[in-house]
Amino acid sequence: MEAVVETLVEVRSNLIIALIVPVLIKEGVIEKIVESPKTSAQIVEGTTLNHSSLLRALHFLEANSFFRFEESTNLWHATERGHTLAGEDAKTLWLWHFDTRKLGFMINLGELLYSEDQNLFQKIAGKSGFEVLNEIPDMLEKFQAYMTFLTKLNSDVVCQAIDLKDNMKIVDVGGGAGGLAIDLAKKYPEKKFAVYEIESVVPMARNNIEKHGLTEQVEVLPGSFFEAIPAGFDCILLKHIIHDWPAHRTITILKNCRNVLNPGNRVLIIDIVVDRTDKRYKRATLQDIYVFSDNTGKERTLNEFKEILSESGFRLESVTNAKEDDIIEAIAI
Ligand SMILES: C[S@@+](CC[C@H](N)C(=O)[O-])C[C@H]1O[C@@H](n2cnc3c(N)ncnc32)[C@H](O)[C@@H]1O
Repeated sequence: MEAVVETLVEVRSNLIIALIVPVLIKEGVIEKIVESPKTSAQIVEGTTLNHSSLLRALHFLEANSFFRFEESTNLWHATERGHTLAGEDAKTLWLWHFDTRKLGFMINLGELLYSEDQNLFQKIAGKSGFEVLNEIPDMLEKFQAYMTFLTKLNSDVVCQAIDLKDNMKIVDVGGGAGGLAIDLAKKYPEKKFAVYEIESVVPMARNNIEKHGLTEQVEVLPGSFFEAIPAGFDCILLKHIIHDWPAHRTITILKNCRNVLNPGNRVLIIDIVVDRTDKRYKRATLQDIYVFSDNTGKERTLNEFKEILSESGFRLESVTNAKEDDIIEAIAI
């Protein structure tokens, strides 16, 4: 095949995979095939899918190495690649990333290349990505499930790398459903934690903390980090918060943090530090486009972190690698 066509086939196929797989996940098709090889009649049974259309999708996914059709038995098998589409984590990831309402916004991604201070949601809906999410409860839930997945991905390494030293009261600002605070509370049973979140996320965090039996040790406080950070804490965690926003808004958040800390207290920023020589570079650039399109956010280099920190009354103390993330330790001056 000519190179130009080969590249196009690959890219178009990926696009179609992104549109088809979530439907098969929702209809339980993937789980069925992964559970044990099945005929297409067995696969379609109990779904609302059309049999012959489903067959075409299965053949397309077979050509893309997710399934294998065994002609002698009429059975569909899942390949190793097919197995990656099964299970709760796969469901969380695929149903969030390829939700058709989200894709409806993403179709305009190219438009963003014409400016640096626009994001998809602002451009189309006139509000930030988080504001749009807050108005659609099932999408907010899908998003928080995705964030909980990301937290789980490297929580052991992050918790290991976070040294809370003599800090006794720690607040996880924008702490989502509470995953990090819960894991840290288990590591440090003598310390008190709080999750600071917007009103709509508070019940999710409270439920989660209750499920882990940690209500005495971890509280949930409602509010906006653009307005203020609650006082009375000697360490502030910001996980996947700074990368969500453009520089001037990160400075507002960090200055609000600085306002409630004493000199010498710390902020721990958990985000990736972009480095072109790092093996995580490809993911960092993908994530960069993602946060740019959602909230005009940015993945930052070490120098860019230094700049926003010094503008906000902090100095960078250390950077520790924590698998998918880095922990950027900053000290209030
Ligand atoms: C990318 S998520 C990170 C969540 C969590 N820290 C984690 O790593 O899983 C960003 C979080 O910031 C919260 N957030 C957005 N705007 C906020 C605001 N103005 N004040 C407080 N939290 C906010 C969102 O609700 C969301 O949970």
